[in-house]
Amino acid sequence: MVQGYRSFYKINYMNKMNFRISATTAMLCMIFSVGCEAPQKEITMPETDLNSEHLIPMPSKMTATNSGFRLDQYTRIETNPNNEGLEEVAVYLTDKITEKTGLRLETNTSDGQKNDAVIYLTQQEGKSWPNDEAYTLSIKKDSLILEAATPKAAFWGVQTIRQLIPEISNDTLTEHAIWPIATGIIEDHPNFEYRGSMLDVARHFFSVEDVKKYIDLLAYYKINVLHLHLTDDQGWRIEIKSWPKLTEIGGSTEVGGEAGGFYTQEEYKDIVAYAADRFMTIVPEIDMPGHTNAASVSYPILDGTGKTLQLYQGTRVGFSTFNTRKDTVYAFIDDVVRELSAISPGPYFHIGGDESHATKKSDYVYFVNKVEKIVRKYGKKMIGWDEIATADMDSNSIFQFWASEENTKTAISKGMKVILSPAKKAYLDMQYDTLSKHGLHWAAYIPVDTAYVWSPETYVDQIPKDMILGVEAPLWSETISNIEELEYLAFPRIIGYSELSWSLEENRDWENFRVRLANQTPFLDMMDVKYYASPKIDWVKSNRTYKEIQKD
Ligand code: ACM
Repeated sequence: MVQGYRSFYKINYMNKMNFRISATTAMLCMIFSVGCEAPQKEITMPETDLNSEHLIPMPSKMTATNSGFRLDQYTRIETNPNNEGLEEVAVYLTDKITEKTGLRLETNTSDGQKNDAVIYLTQQEGKSWPNDEAYTLSIKKDSLILEAATPKAAFWGVQTIRQLIPEISNDTLTEHAIWPIATGIIEDHPNFEYRGSMLDVARHFFSVEDVKKYIDLLAYYKINVLHLHLTDDQGWRIEIKSWPKLTEIGGSTEVGGEAGGFYTQEEYKDIVAYAADRFMTIVPEIDMPGHTNAASVSYPILDGTGKTLQLYQGTRVGFSTFNTRKDTVYAFIDDVVRELSAISPGPYFHIGGDESHATKKSDYVYFVNKVEKIVRKYGKKMIGWDEIATADMDSNSIFQFWASEENTKTAISKGMKVILSPAKKAYLDMQYDTLSKHGLHWAAYIPVDTAYVWSPETYVDQIPKDMILGVEAPLWSETISNIEELEYLAFPRIIGYSELSWSLEENRDWENFRVRLANQTPFLDMMDVKYYASPKIDWVKSNRTYKEIQKD
């Protein structure tokens, strides 16, 4: 039995209180006969099957009890008053219920009737949870109790509740609309703590609004990291106050030659706060010592190639490098890491480190060793692409696998934890097939099944499971320049990566996932996501288009 004593007590107490309130209300009604709703009658709920719901990622364990929780205009949302941080999660749930159903529910009011159904959020610290993102949903006819290890865990539980709410109401059960939620028990926790996507805002710039929409879509699937690739040869996208030309010059263009753009520090903080409200960490990346043309054009003193520099709008890689033996370069990096770390509350700072083909090997190792110390000085854990394993890495630094199994083994031997982003499986910018409108195929074509059918636990031989921090699906932007194109490449594949990083290996199954994925259309259409309708999926037609939802 997963429901704790305190939550039982609370529900019973609330019911008693409500009974008293309703008795008083009934008397007032008799006296003034205005503004009073009759108590609800017992309603017979339809049969349900929790196991046939289309949850993604698949929860750790589910037990169906085949009745229906009554979500309707009378449902109240309550939080344990002793828990900090749950009220905000409850308000978020209330907003999301309104977005999906039009219902405007009350949060933590003492109003209500004895028979009203209650959604109750509570934190159970004393319980031995598998990890701090674990939660349990106990769903009965008139109570839906979300017990969570932490507010963050409650937020993931809320995503599950959102997914359980039917797309359309049942209007035949009583005089008002009801959205029956399948009853039973869900016990859930993530397999990996790092569940990410990366967005390359350097090759093409994406607005704050676009990034926020991507964050909202990722959060629904319990993804908790957005890595922003903020700099590259084609553009520098983050204001650094002590080096203003980085954005004035380096941010002025992008692939294809259009005007680029950049985030002011205020805008970046706004993205970080928006993500934090969704329990998502922003990982900032400053790619170096290669991929640095935009920085060196802005401040030629940084350059290590000795060539004539100009802004670059093409898509070649591997031609730029910082001068790794110059003190000014490290003073510059110190400023950048200091300013960006101060506005990035998450634990990580990504230094890139990939494809530095214009840097001598010995210079590369010297550079990465020095930058690692700078990152540590500002209290962050360094992440780097897989080439960094060739430097003298600290075991606290994190290795992001994209191409080389050899480097992965080196990283493991140095005690570094691994983020898995194998280009052949997890690069969102790879085309689905030869007909794809956008994307590249230098690593592979990655259709929706190929994206899902691999196992992070065994993809590279001999990585102990506890050395895998998680999975990240990068979206490079050579071929995409707006949110529709971003959505075409990311969706539906990112939904599969969410399951690869959250769900236990024994709960992942392509045929089962395929059906659940086909049923994501009501959400994707409600959010106006221009996903790629892969012919490998028998997509379910949603009842309402985005335009119809907007009209309501
Ligand atoms: C990479 O794809 N160059 C990390």
